[in-house]
Amino acid sequence: MKKTVAIIGSSGAIGSAFCKCLLLDQSIEKIYKFARNNIDKDSDNEINISIDIEDEDSIKKAIEELPENTRFDLIFVATGILHNDDNIFPEKSIKDISIDKLKKVFMVNTFGPTLLGKYFIPLLNREKSVFAFLSARVGSISDNVLGGWYSYRASKTALNQIIKNFSIEVKRSNQNAIFVGLQPGTVKSYLSKPFEKNVKPENLFTPEYSSEKMLEVINSLKIEDSGKIFSWDGEEIQP
Ligand SMILES: NC(=O)c1ccc[n+]([C@@H]2O[C@H](COP(=O)([O-])OP(=O)(O)OC[C@H]3O[C@@H](n4cnc5c(N)ncnc54)[C@H](OP(=O)(O)O)[C@@H]3O)[C@@H](O)[C@H]2O)c1
Repeated sequence: MKKTVAIIGSSGAIGSAFCKCLLLDQSIEKIYKFARNNIDKDSDNEINISIDIEDEDSIKKAIEELPENTRFDLIFVATGILHNDDNIFPEKSIKDISIDKLKKVFMVNTFGPTLLGKYFIPLLNREKSVFAFLSARVGSISDNVLGGWYSYRASKTALNQIIKNFSIEVKRSNQNAIFVGLQPGTVKSYLSKPFEKNVKPENLFTPEYSSEKMLEVINSLKIEDSGKIFSWDGEEIQP
């Protein structure tokens, strides 16, 4: 049976590279690409649907556009924010903390993905399925030695908790669903651009390389991995 996949955040560097990676996979029949802007043209195996993950009604409408009885073998959430062109930039110090920035970063990195879970979990296949969320190593509390980046770090820590919660609750109704967070490595993108100069060239991945590695991780997941966070190379990241 060929697979059906949803990519949410398909306009991003990693989201779009992940789509391209899946298009090369003969086992995949249909890819539903969800994005806020840059809606591409549909083709035989790619369907584009508009979504704003900060707006619950938009998520509901996006789901309504799916053909009846659509079931996903893989749902990949590639949305996220670290900075933007307005006023969001990772806090270097306590004095940089502001309620508006906290709200925006948590809205995109935590609340949006949580709502995606609410509406997309019922659409998971009853056989083996994976619901993967792009998280970040900086969301690990035990790995935090540098401090700073208050909103981004904490929003990813909270996302990891939500992923764990999904894994616990859904096990009761769908034993074959696997929920994971994925750390893509440091990947060249709009999100990483301001920080790429601090990264050794060999540690700055292309979105294509990161996507290929994450797909390998996804394909090797077992039921007992549900609720965990994994790096692009398969290493488990401790909470
Ligand atoms: N790049 C890295 O080094 C790195 C490292 C660790 C973790 N990550 C994580 O990987 C994920 C993807 O990052 P990226 O590097 O691919 O960044 P990116 O190119 O900036 O992509 C971010 C994506 O999020 C989407 N998005 C933001 N707000 C949205 C909203 N309200 N509704 C729908 N879509 C929304 C953007 O859509 P628009 O095109 O509409 O803006 C874009 O598709 C993020 O969760 C990030 O935290 C990245």
